[in-house]
Amino acid sequence: MERKALISQPTNLYREPSRPARKSAPGPRGLPVLGNIPEVRSKGGLIQFYSQAHRDYGDVVRIRMGPVDQYLIVHPDHVRHVLVANRQNYWKGAAMQRVKLLLGNGLFTSEGAFWQRQRRLMQPGFTPRGVTQFGGAMVELIERTLARWQAPARNGAALDIGQEMMTLTMGIIAETMLSIDLTRDDVVGQAADAGRAFAYMLEFVSAQSASAFSWPLWVPTPANRRFKAASALIQDFLGGVVRERRAQHERHGPQQQDLLDTLLSARDDTTGEVMDDAQVYDEVITIFFAGHETTAQALSWAWYLLAKHPDAESRLHEEVDRVLGGRTPTLSDLPNLPYARWVVEETMRLYPPAWIFVREPYQDDEIGGYPIPAKSMIVLSPYLTHRHPAHWDQPEQFEPARFAPEQAAKRHHYAYFPFGGGPRTCIGNHFALQEAHLAVAMIAQRYRLRLAKPETIEPKMAGTLRPSKPVWMRVEQRAGIGR
Ligand code: HEM
Repeated sequence: MERKALISQPTNLYREPSRPARKSAPGPRGLPVLGNIPEVRSKGGLIQFYSQAHRDYGDVVRIRMGPVDQYLIVHPDHVRHVLVANRQNYWKGAAMQRVKLLLGNGLFTSEGAFWQRQRRLMQPGFTPRGVTQFGGAMVELIERTLARWQAPARNGAALDIGQEMMTLTMGIIAETMLSIDLTRDDVVGQAADAGRAFAYMLEFVSAQSASAFSWPLWVPTPANRRFKAASALIQDFLGGVVRERRAQHERHGPQQQDLLDTLLSARDDTTGEVMDDAQVYDEVITIFFAGHETTAQALSWAWYLLAKHPDAESRLHEEVDRVLGGRTPTLSDLPNLPYARWVVEETMRLYPPAWIFVREPYQDDEIGGYPIPAKSMIVLSPYLTHRHPAHWDQPEQFEPARFAPEQAAKRHHYAYFPFGGGPRTCIGNHFALQEAHLAVAMIAQRYRLRLAKPETIEPKMAGTLRPSKPVWMRVEQRAGIGR
């Protein structure tokens, strides 16, 4: 099967009827050569810089990051234009070369006919119905976390909640997609090292994307050497998983019926060839990391926000106690636990793990009446659109009930897009929502989480939107029926 991304040129480009575009979009002036790069640092980082740019210049802002012309697009109409209405004119762009250092040429980074074929192959396991097969494994792994927390609940030891959520979601993705139990003695250490290695690689790639200059990887700087060592460690772990399963396949055929079996069994429609190990590896590393890091960040923010908002926390506790009465939930309980779901959705409104993502136009376009040149970089930011004052009442407030159906129906569809939109929408959105919904309900049923120190934690951009420092929390066993 061919590994190269096939980038199809656009046909039938859609254009919104509007007046002829003349004036370039407004934006901060910046310096010659460096453009606005120095301001990113002086404003305290990219989040602050883009937020200020939106406040000062509006819904379409032109930003110059060294040689790259960026357009920050915030209005939901314009988000829909890029992701849906005129999507044939946009691809993920040259910026994906850096992400390929992390995820290879897998589903996240590939393009064109090749991407489409891989997506079609993997899609069935990720539909709302497809993900129900993972409900049992999700519940079991969340229960193991609850059991592990009995000792800290008794002795009052504080937990790094980000690390706890990462262990949980990594365990779930390994079990459901690769049929690996990460608590097994022979993988437990390797998996934890791989998690740390990936966190470093994500920070490295995200720092590179934000800086005007970086040494090519072959230059042995300390950061490059550490990046290569981290990459080798992950290859060792996940490459070993792929090789071992391939050997099992050849001896006994597919045994597990998981994503890895699907990838190894797939045959190209025209050539009949199977995917080589390198391609299977790229799809596996993509699903393994895209499939746990983001959900772990969302859950960590949820516990932080609930601890800061006792009213919302009480309403959640009341709901899980009334609906579940102390018993372990199954998937059929989820529709009766709407508040737990709104907590997840509202958390991802304020702290969307994928807080920005980018596109590149093949041809000149026009957005909001401004010209958008081919090959510029379009920056879409769920973080900013989710706080757009024209689309959200009191956007800075944590208010889960705004996701009640009658309220959500009044909003612009693209005022909220934590999973992106159009054909490149996150393949794991139903998986992530089911997992986070169960985790919030089951953890809140058993424990109350308190911040170890009464502090305010700011978000930091490190590939995904993470807490700027570890969130230390104490877990208190809740009194109640059947526990
Ligand atoms: C809260 C959790 C998650 C969030 C916020 C999230 C967010 C996103 C976003 C915004 C995109 C689109 C990026 C773009 O258009 O450039 C995306 C794509 C993707 N996500 Fe997720 N994701 C989450 C969970 C997951 C899970 C659980 C999986 C896998 C099990 C996953 C796998 C992927 C893959 C493979 C893509 C690329 C899809 C394609 O282009 O066809 N994600 N995700």
